[in-house]
Amino acid sequence: MNILVTGGCGFIGTNFLRHMLNESSCTLINLDKLTYAGNPRNLTSINEEYGGKRYFFEHGDICDSLLIPELLNKYSIDFVVNFAAESHVDRSITDPDVFIRSNIQGTYNLLEAARRKGIKKFIQISTDEVYGSLGSKGRFTENTPLAPNSPYSASKAAADLLCRSFHRTYDFPVIITRCSNNYGPFQFPEKLIPLSFMRALKDLPIPLYGSGENVRDWIHVNDHCRGIELCISKADPGSVYNFGGDSEYKNLEIIRKILEIMGKPDDLIHFVKDRPGHDLRYAMDFTLATRELGFMPEVGFAEGLEKTIDWYLNNQDWVECIQSGEYLRFTELWYKERV
Ligand code: NAD
Ligand code: DAU
Repeated sequence: MNILVTGGCGFIGTNFLRHMLNESSCTLINLDKLTYAGNPRNLTSINEEYGGKRYFFEHGDICDSLLIPELLNKYSIDFVVNFAAESHVDRSITDPDVFIRSNIQGTYNLLEAARRKGIKKFIQISTDEVYGSLGSKGRFTENTPLAPNSPYSASKAAADLLCRSFHRTYDFPVIITRCSNNYGPFQFPEKLIPLSFMRALKDLPIPLYGSGENVRDWIHVNDHCRGIELCISKADPGSVYNFGGDSEYKNLEIIRKILEIMGKPDDLIHFVKDRPGHDLRYAMDFTLATRELGFMPEVGFAEGLEKTIDWYLNNQDWVECIQSGEYLRFTELWYKERV
């Protein structure tokens, strides 16, 4: 079984490749453009770590309409798992262009090449953000109407609709997964949890948007990866599955927990101007995935957060190599504009 994984040098892609090398015997081909968020260091020794030569890397863009058919043929691809995307909401607010290109045009390009090739399954990694925002009650189900609020979530919703249309029009075997906020090793430190950790480590103020009352449903990345693997083996073409961690916390609570684990004072918390269009609350109803795929999150949030912080502490070289260039330019500028 040969799987084309796109965006494998990013946070979830890296964890997924490692998960699949551990849990399966398939061959994995990673296509990644290596944007600021793609880190080839995540995977340099992966064949040695897992034994054998089941992992191949291809540097390229999912928007490249010549490259994708070539790779599908070269590696006799059976499955595509599309993680490749611009993933950061704040960046989509300052510069939406690349989100439209990679997340919409790129997904279309992959779908079209995979349809022409006739692959077994295409898994589109989408997000809970396509549903928009919840009030204080209720959860998103797969039937919740799409109502994205940021350029990022709109681009992901557009890709979901293209996937849906390919299934309805061409009977193309696509499955969409929508997951809540992931955390765990290898997450790029522009996202709330690693950003808070890294700033706290240096005793720098941690920017908390608005009132800090916004709620996210946190899931450990290993649980998300298991859900995706279940989709490869069990999901029917045309289906959509929500994944979540059943772990809702306010952003203020998250930062306080991180500071507590690190033994740092609460006064590092710095309330700043809110993110425009900031969604109040996400919470996932993943009953369908439990019933049809046997999915349940296994990593408790308290344990998962402690282990994640340990991972960052034990991988300072990874953290240091990120802390330069493009990363610093964006986060520092964004932060300055909000204080
Ligand atoms: P990430 O930003 O860490 O990684 C994205 C990867 O995609 C990078 O390696 C980057 O180089 C690559 N990439 C970007 N544009 C590309 C292109 N045009 N061609 C080839 N490669 C390209 O993202 P992540 O957090 O790992 O998210 C992965 C996927 O999961 C995204 O589709 C995202 O929308 C979705 N998702 C993320 C979360 C989360 O909490 N992080 C939750 C639900 C869904
Ligand atoms: O819900 C799934 C989504 O989760 C994914 O689709 C996205 O790719 C991923 O980036 C993530 O989006 P969020 O916007 O929820 O994640 P982020 O870590 O950027 O922010 C989490 C919450 O913390 C959000 O309410 C904004 C807030 N925040 C974030 C940052 C970076 C702050 O208060 N301060 C910050 O510095």
